[in-house]
Amino acid sequence: MTWLIPVNIDAGAQATFSDFVRDLDGRLADPGTDRVRLAREILAEAMYGRAYEQLTADAPLAALNLDSRNVTFEAEYYMATDQEKFARVKPLLWLWKTLDLTPVGQNPVLGIPVRRVLAGHIFRRVGADFKCWQNVEFSVGYNMEVGDNVVVHRHVLLDDIGGIELHDDASVSDYVNIYSHTHSVLDGPDVTLKRTVIGRGARITYHSTILAGAVVSDDAMLATHALLRDDIPPHGIAMGVPARTSRFKVRPESDVKVDSRTYPHDAGRKANPQFPQPTPGQTRLPDERDAPLAAGQVVKRG
Ligand SMILES: CC(C)(COP(=O)(O)OP(=O)(O)OC[C@H]1O[C@@H](n2cnc3c(N)ncnc32)[C@H](O)[C@@H]1OP(=O)(O)O)[C@@H](O)C(=O)NCCC(=O)NCCS
Repeated sequence: MTWLIPVNIDAGAQATFSDFVRDLDGRLADPGTDRVRLAREILAEAMYGRAYEQLTADAPLAALNLDSRNVTFEAEYYMATDQEKFARVKPLLWLWKTLDLTPVGQNPVLGIPVRRVLAGHIFRRVGADFKCWQNVEFSVGYNMEVGDNVVVHRHVLLDDIGGIELHDDASVSDYVNIYSHTHSVLDGPDVTLKRTVIGRGARITYHSTILAGAVVSDDAMLATHALLRDDIPPHGIAMGVPARTSRFKVRPESDVKVDSRTYPHDAGRKANPQFPQPTPGQTRLPDERDAPLAAGQVVKRG
């Protein structure tokens, strides 16, 4: 079932776009392709309407920033990043991100098929008909596992450093943030990675946030603006900050694959060898020492 209607553009423009996508797919499928050169060549054409070599002569500053070897990503500064895997996907992530700044990326009839092709060469796995709208960010990309018919809407952050699974028919709405790493309260550099799982047909609705290690079951829903710290059972609707499952969809029984009560949870991996042990609880409840001060009151502590 869908509420989307087909939209067609000028046949000539569509043919040009389809040729471009087919050519991109073919070149990426060739193991001999130099991904850095491919990405900078496409960007020079899309952004400045000329060949990369010409752009280098005309506007070196612009050209240098199209070559992913001259660019850094936040993930490159993380200890947890597999530098070899990242180097392989980096030119394609740079192409994805930078095309989003151009009409090519902002135009869904071209941008979505281009991203579908790029995802096939960046993600650990991607199923059929992946539909990703513009301005979506990943941490490393290579830890994304995506099923069939998954949709990711605009301005989403998919922090996949610890792994994200988006199962078949899952939908991630605008401005959602899904994390897979967390920092200790007392020591920022003490980082734990945990795979975050979004089940089949689950809907993560606008402006919500999911913290590392949560398992959202099949057909579950996270309400708008919610903050999910743990799990949602099948068909559950979790709301609020922090989110609690307070409603269930009225549904006939159906088979469930991702059920948070049985699905394997990621116990977590430490990302920094300086902190090899599991991080203990590091917060306490307030007591009388923490009572709000009355106006003018001075408290001696120690
Ligand atoms: C959660 C949601 C589905 C509403 O479900 P519902 O059961 O039809 O909602 P109701 O309006 O009957 O509200 C039920 C209760 O949930 C509360 N509630 C609804 N949305 C909430 C939200 N986002 N956060 C916190 N509480 C919420 C209501 O205040 C109400 O509380 P009460 O029982 O104490 O009065 C909806 O608010 C929501 O977040 N929708 C997301 C939008 C969406 O579909 N986005 C997808 C785009 S692809």
